[in-house]
Amino acid sequence: MKTLIRNGRVVTAVDDYIADIFIDGETVTTIGKMLDAEADVVIDASGKIVIPGGIDPHTHMELPFGGTQSSDDFFTGTRAAAFGGTTTIIDFAVQYKGESMIEAVDNWHAKAEGKCAIDYGFHLITTDFEDHHTEQMYTVMDEGITSFKLFMAYPGVFLVDDATIFRAMSAAGQRGGLICMHAENGIVINEIIKRFIADGRTAPKYHALSRPTIAEAEGVHRAIAIAEMAESPVYIVHLSSADALNKVREARDRGIPAFAETCPQYLFRSIDDYGDGWDGAKYVFTPPLREKHNCGELWKGLKMDDLQVISTDHCPFCMKEQKELGRESFDKIPNGAPGVENRMSLIYNGGVVENRISLNRFVELTSTAAAKMFGMFPKKGTIAVGSDADIVIFDPEKEHTFGVESEHMNVDYSTYEGWKVKGKVETVLSRGRVIIENGEHKGNAGDGQFIKRGECVKI
Ligand code: URP
Ligand code: ZN
Ligand code: ZN
Repeated sequence: MKTLIRNGRVVTAVDDYIADIFIDGETVTTIGKMLDAEADVVIDASGKIVIPGGIDPHTHMELPFGGTQSSDDFFTGTRAAAFGGTTTIIDFAVQYKGESMIEAVDNWHAKAEGKCAIDYGFHLITTDFEDHHTEQMYTVMDEGITSFKLFMAYPGVFLVDDATIFRAMSAAGQRGGLICMHAENGIVINEIIKRFIADGRTAPKYHALSRPTIAEAEGVHRAIAIAEMAESPVYIVHLSSADALNKVREARDRGIPAFAETCPQYLFRSIDDYGDGWDGAKYVFTPPLREKHNCGELWKGLKMDDLQVISTDHCPFCMKEQKELGRESFDKIPNGAPGVENRMSLIYNGGVVENRISLNRFVELTSTAAAKMFGMFPKKGTIAVGSDADIVIFDPEKEHTFGVESEHMNVDYSTYEGWKVKGKVETVLSRGRVIIENGEHKGNAGDGQFIKRGECVKI
């Protein structure tokens, strides 16, 4: 199959020009002006922006969590991602205590195999890491899983101690692996939660109040300090506050390889959204929403490269039957919210249209940087000869409104219900095949391939 995208404004992390793109099979083979080429499919992209497919390096499909399971499976979640202009996700496999890393990865391959609508990779959530796990870690890395998530939060579930963090970071760092850190002081937070519940403070907003920004900042500081001692890079996931950002900035200013992502919810929403009632359960995720001034600080961090990536932490739970598990007390509400479908338009509108970041930086934050950070570049994350033809044709003028009725995520609410944005994903190609066109999914479950990733970002 040969495809020609005509006359689009091609935007990468560094370029911005009008050109035709010729795709032979799965790969971009020629880029130029007025190409004289025969194609099976010709797409007129005049007046449109042509960007690399989005990469969302933080999603949780079918994650068993909080006494239930996230409501998107690997098909519904990746199809929704495609509708939103994302052509690659990195999801999280889980190694439970006592389980080998290899078993864990096999389990997650079995879950995702034959279901994904777009390409996918895995990080491995690691809950057990003694020195003898090093060999397993390297086996998993040879199989293309080159990043690992450790938790300083959720005691009794995912939390690991500092010794485990140090061992895992030392081993990963020696081999081009990357530790992704959920950085919050979960031990202290647990004590605050206990006090709140004893006092009858159980509404959803107390989820946020029990997790102060200083608990996040302490976690970030500790994660970076341990990484420094382990001579390893570290990547802070879902960073939510100015206090935590300051710790990353201080380290980067000293030349330490500390990296971080934030997510749209922390850029656009605030603690005020919880209100006093049950509806606030929609925003019970971790870290929680913060005071409004944090949003501006995070945008500054994105602009100045103290934050490198925008992911979603997509982890949906329906209000009905799932979030309801915590009707009596916020600590029983499954933590997570939907967002994988909203990210590209949301960031284009809030970032580019509202003049917070350039168009090139938009591409870098939503695609290129994740490809580089997690060992997929230049196959993914750019439009170049030899790269996978993962391409989004984006209408910069078209306005649309987010809402549960029109979205494709398998969940009963939208995190951004009723929000109007400018800029809409029009056509999506995944390795050369049109998978989204005229508001319809043209692909199938199982179109997406597992991506064997290479070494992560180097020190
Ligand atoms: O609330 C969240 N973030 N749920 C998903 C698990 C995690 O910590 O990323
Ligand atoms: Zn986390
Ligand atoms: Zn997460």
